[in-house]
Amino acid sequence: MNITQPLALLGGLSPKQFMRRHWQKKPLLVRQAIPDFKALLDRAALFALAADDDVESRLVVHGPKGWQIRSGPFTRRALPPLKQPEWTLLVQGVDLHVDAAHDLLQQFRFVPEARLDDLMISYATDGGGVGPHFDSYDVFLLQAQGRRRWRIARQSDLALQHGVPLKILSRFVPEQEFVLEPGDMLYLPPRYAHEGVALGECMTYSIGFRAPNRGELGRELLQRLADAAGDAAGSAPYRDAAQPAVDSPGRIPARLQEFAQHAVQAALKDSRAPCRVLGEYLTEPKAHVWFDAGRAPRRLGRVVLDRRTRMMFDADSIFINGESYPAGARDAAMLRQLADRRCLGADDLERASPDVLSLLACWYEAGWLHEGAPRAL
Ligand code: SIN
Ligand code: CO
Repeated sequence: MNITQPLALLGGLSPKQFMRRHWQKKPLLVRQAIPDFKALLDRAALFALAADDDVESRLVVHGPKGWQIRSGPFTRRALPPLKQPEWTLLVQGVDLHVDAAHDLLQQFRFVPEARLDDLMISYATDGGGVGPHFDSYDVFLLQAQGRRRWRIARQSDLALQHGVPLKILSRFVPEQEFVLEPGDMLYLPPRYAHEGVALGECMTYSIGFRAPNRGELGRELLQRLADAAGDAAGSAPYRDAAQPAVDSPGRIPARLQEFAQHAVQAALKDSRAPCRVLGEYLTEPKAHVWFDAGRAPRRLGRVVLDRRTRMMFDADSIFINGESYPAGARDAAMLRQLADRRCLGADDLERASPDVLSLLACWYEAGWLHEGAPRAL
């Protein structure tokens, strides 16, 4: 992607300008970000996804009893009637299940893939919404069908109402209001107060970006480092044949303290390990993601990553679906290209080393990539 080229998607800004001026800083409203946009799934297809055990969905109903929220899956009969106003069905991770949704996300590849989370589709009947709230992630809200009125505010008062099952702001003081039509898009940085209300039946796509919090990420990575260190250190027990008799049995022996310290240092001995576990963590497939195993052809023509595959790299390794591979300079260049573009052409594969070809064949058999060209956007 040429990051200096102005894009209709960003209201005539280039990705470079957008990232500098708006990303994590201020909202951007783009009229006709995707001109003549047509919803990628109709209502029936979305409801069918919400009925699937492997799809994460929630139902939010606002009525005389206040706010109610339930988690899916939902059979069609478990959803309220279409004539009932003020309900919303939220279907998460649609890009994992629908090629066209995955393709739509590719337009946002000017943001590192490590930040990209998923495409959520919300369906609402008239007046439906999830109340005034803020999110902790960046989001592009693309209107897919019908109209939705967004009201937004920069407010710093982010206190939440008590006793409601959703995160609803106690005091929402809207500053700006926009009605979005199909193809219009609103970018909101994290913690920007907003409320979207359906004006008639509507569908909105949320392109969300994950931002791990420091504590959570630290815990996750330490856990992974500990697992790897535990495997590497083996189960050698503490030995103290030279331990003299003690008259203060409550004191922890200094030797045992040293033994513990060495065990912890061993876990952190490899200075690249934190980056390795980060890459493995970031590319870990989401829960309920299954790949369809395939049989690799004798000769691969060109390859394209499966829509569910997450692939990234750093200076030392290539990461794919939770696994890491150290890669030598020449092989790394080709595999990085696969991670960036999600495909390799016939010319690339002709130059590929036997190591790369055998990796690709393994990944093919795991269902992580397929033969063929990427779909045109
Ligand atoms: C929605 O699409 O109904 C909710 C999206 C959001 O406010 O983040
Ligand atoms: Co929101």
